[in-house]
Amino acid sequence: MPEISILSESLANKIAAGEVIERPASVVRELIDNSIDAGAKLITVEVLHGGKKLMRVSDDGVGMSREDATLCFERHATSKISSEDDLFNINTLGFRGEALAAIASISKVSLTTSTSDSDRGTRVDIGVGRKKQTTDAPPLQGTSVEIRDIFYNTPARRKFLKTISTELSHIIATVTQKALAYPEISFHLKHNKTGIINAPAARDIRERFIQLYSEDMINEFFEVNRQMPGLSIHGFSSSPDFTRAARGYQFIFINRRPVKNPTVSHAVYSAYDNLIPKDRYPAYFLFLDIDPHKVDVNVHPAKREVRFESQDEIHNMVAIAVKQGLHPQQEQSGTAGQITSMRAEHTGKAGLSAGGVRETLESALGYENRSFPVSGDLQADFFTDRGPAIHRYFYIGEAFVAQVTNDGLVIIDRHAAHERVLYERLLKKTGLEIENLFLPLRVELPAKEFNVLTNHKDLVNEFGLDIDDFGANNVVVRALPREFHKADIKGLLLDIASGILDEQTSGIKGRSEKQKLVQNIAARLACHKSVRGREHLNDEELSRLIADLDKAEVPDRCPHGRPTRVSLSLADLRKMFKRK
Ligand SMILES: Nc1ncnc2c1ncn2[C@@H]1O[C@H](COP(=O)(O)OP(=O)(O)OP(=O)(O)O)[C@@H](O)[C@H]1O
Ligand SMILES: [Mg+2]
Repeated sequence: MPEISILSESLANKIAAGEVIERPASVVRELIDNSIDAGAKLITVEVLHGGKKLMRVSDDGVGMSREDATLCFERHATSKISSEDDLFNINTLGFRGEALAAIASISKVSLTTSTSDSDRGTRVDIGVGRKKQTTDAPPLQGTSVEIRDIFYNTPARRKFLKTISTELSHIIATVTQKALAYPEISFHLKHNKTGIINAPAARDIRERFIQLYSEDMINEFFEVNRQMPGLSIHGFSSSPDFTRAARGYQFIFINRRPVKNPTVSHAVYSAYDNLIPKDRYPAYFLFLDIDPHKVDVNVHPAKREVRFESQDEIHNMVAIAVKQGLHPQQEQSGTAGQITSMRAEHTGKAGLSAGGVRETLESALGYENRSFPVSGDLQADFFTDRGPAIHRYFYIGEAFVAQVTNDGLVIIDRHAAHERVLYERLLKKTGLEIENLFLPLRVELPAKEFNVLTNHKDLVNEFGLDIDDFGANNVVVRALPREFHKADIKGLLLDIASGILDEQTSGIKGRSEKQKLVQNIAARLACHKSVRGREHLNDEELSRLIADLDKAEVPDRCPHGRPTRVSLSLADLRKMFKRK
């Protein structure tokens, strides 16, 4: 008895489909790609119940003849490449001829299409068991593909579908990415008949960005632009002040394809080196155009990855382009100047670099060799510029405050201390003063974040924020904790949304997962730059902060695990100075 047998065609198709179609959003991605390749100027996506019930993508592209319309569902049926050479010079999004075949093997499909020169259109229906039926349709130029009951015949996969809200988030993300890559095309997305994305054809990426993310958001970004023969980059990257708690807003497009690419993201991070805290992430939307001969797009079933012929060249180019954008921006906006002048104010010496302060402190705290070599400059600032010892606290650089106690010295990381205090308040919901806003605040959000927040109002409410759906991707905030009054509410809402979105991938089930999510969001909110309050606190404010920290359950660590305070007791000092 042979043990090997050839799988039936229908089973082989389902297996192949599994790689291309992971969830409803993959169908939307493939159909939009086909519409773009067909030269569409207008693409409309309509979905019901997060795409689980129905997805329809309609375009005004070139359409198909009757012959092509019946052939397009076969495996390896493509009009986009015909020879091996073509495979290394791909100028279309599709090239494998398998997307429609994959979709038809796991769902029920109706396609209507017509070319401009035809006096009758074609409708192809594929139902249970891939049974195909071809009929006439009105001669409207373009193509409309309707997908019903995804995974109806693969219950194991259907089981893995997440909630409507999660599946819809993925669809919104897909349409957003495509809309960013093709600003010249109009994109519309409707969910259960409600408009979610409305992006008419835009002049350029800047205008498209504003349509999708709002005008105030683009002001947080600087432009990236650099050209070389066979390689160019353009797009936006966030100013070091606009960092995110998660990697959500990081988009890389290679030849207009959204991809994940460690080479490019590493290059971007290297450009921000030392400018942003370790647990914050820059946001970026970068579009690379590379000679198609120098990039292999056929390396991932869902086309999410590419391979470069010359990785180093791309890395260098991206790092230089982002650095170039980053540095002029700092000078213009005065960020670099501000940092120096703030430091000068705190230390009384403009020339002392952050590195200098850190090094001195690290050695002071014995991280290196447990000696105490405080530089003359720092000592002078520390003791003379702040006047005689009327102050109970001394600032060291921007971040640290030293408190002389009866038993020695405590050095506090002010931000970490504040993060810990606020984090525990948010979790315990004690000590938070919730204020109703006299004038509710309207906040416009990107479609994906709007969808997730309005679907998780109760969760948002756990952090003292009372929000309501205001339509057209706007929410109104009716109440918020006093700590958030001067905060960047939009930034906070985006952080909550990204916390939920990160978690959605795994799915919130049990109580402990929910608790983990709440902790994770509370930590993000607590470390949000805008809720930390003023940079320079007076003695009274510092006393309050230190007293609050003493009362915390875990006073010595910030929510991310960094120390909030370090003590040097008299005994430590005696030991350091080799005294008994
Ligand atoms: N919206 C559309 N308008 C015009 N022609 C289309 C459209 N959708 C599909 N086609 C035709 O059907 C063919 C098969 O589409 P399908 O998506 O299965 O494969 P592909 O796009 O060639 O490659 P890939 O599998 O990589 O997407 C395409 O090559 C194209 O000729
Ligand atoms: Mg395709």
